[in-house]
Amino acid sequence: MGTVWQARLQALPFALKEGWRFLRASIRREPDRREAALDFARRTAKAGDPDSVLAALDRFAREDRFLMNVGPEKGLLLVEEIAKIGPDARILELGSFVGYSAILMARQLSDAGRISSIDVSPEASAVARAMAELAGVAHRIEFLTGSASERLESLEGPFDLVFLDHWKDLYQPNTEKILARGLLAEDGVIIADNLGPMFGENPYLAWMQGRSDFESRYVEGHVEYQSIEDGALVSRRRGGAAQS
Ligand SMILES: C[S@@+](CC[C@H](N)C(=O)[O-])C[C@H]1O[C@@H](n2cnc3c(N)ncnc32)[C@H](O)[C@@H]1O
Repeated sequence: MGTVWQARLQALPFALKEGWRFLRASIRREPDRREAALDFARRTAKAGDPDSVLAALDRFAREDRFLMNVGPEKGLLLVEEIAKIGPDARILELGSFVGYSAILMARQLSDAGRISSIDVSPEASAVARAMAELAGVAHRIEFLTGSASERLESLEGPFDLVFLDHWKDLYQPNTEKILARGLLAEDGVIIADNLGPMFGENPYLAWMQGRSDFESRYVEGHVEYQSIEDGALVSRRRGGAAQS
């Protein structure tokens, strides 16, 4: 794995381009990027076709404004895990944003499968819900608004798959809460995105890799739609009693 500074140097052209795109959008008084992405998907994607909505979001993020979706490369990890769990999977996602990952996962589910997706931003929840409706998979996803830490207090589990993709400092405390509340199934899997060097050291990585009740593998990849190094941790619970 590269160092934080190598990764930040790699990210410099992207940061400059994003700064310019942000300035241009402000001058043109363009809507918030989430609203703009929804508008683009409504104009270009085929309603009721999740693949077409995902392709529109990929295109918007590459050609117009950056979107912090999991993206097609790291998204494959979610697809692979759901294929193992099966179409009735119960999934918990922390961080909905515009609904990309929720739609990606919901495509694989039967109507008995379920996704609970939490976002602290009401605007994000509203856009994600509208995006899922456009994709025709909204009936499999419950979008909840609020901080993950608070929402986890009242959620009912267990979940077969947890996708951590919200505020990076909260990965460990929120996972502790998930485990303490019995929200992860006996053989459940946790996938944590954005653990690459660009995001700085996240205590979650060493903490989870050191747990004997989980088998973890770090998967190298790239920051969505960029050539900047990133990585995700896939942690499978070995079953049996939880370790706190
Ligand atoms: C990286 S984006 C999620 C991307 C999404 N999972 C996808 O791949 O399409 C992170 C999202 O986490 C949300 N977020 C940040 N802090 C949060 C918190 N404490 N609780 C819940 N959501 C939070 C942000 O509002 C943002 O929409």
